Amino acid sequence: MPLIPWNDRLSVGIESIDEQHKILLNMLNTLNDALENGQANEVLAKIFEGLAVYTVKHFGYEEELFAQHGYDESQAHKNEHEALIQQVEELQQKMLDGDFIIGVEVMAFLKEWLTNHILKTDMAYAQFLVSKGVT
Ligand SMILES: [Fe+2]
Ligand SMILES: [Fe+2]
Repeated sequence: MPLIPWNDRLSVGIESIDEQHKILLNMLNTLNDALENGQANEVLAKIFEGLAVYTVKHFGYEEELFAQHGYDESQAHKNEHEALIQQVEELQQKMLDGDFIIGVEVMAFLKEWLTNHILKTDMAYAQFLVSKGVT
């Protein structure tokens, strides 16, 4: 069962961003399935790495749009992105050091973080960017 199925409540009304959010959710669901299926830590770490890379790319895309269109809340939004990237990097470092393996707690954290960020922080720019013609 997917950890977070996509639903239209998550849509910010901008197709390019919804597509990226769907990819992020899919990656998180893939990670969760791998965990539930008892895949090796190296497999989990690889999926997590892919998720981290795509997350950075997606955040960059949003921040580029903020800069292009002069979005007022840009700094606070970027700070949230930055905080997540830092947490993910810390987890990756701990994995490399052998001090951390992916488990249900981190899945719960990522799920919570991603849905909250989309529903509150990302949703806050939706109307503004739509009004600028972003699709
Ligand atoms: Fe965001
Ligand atoms: Fe986003």
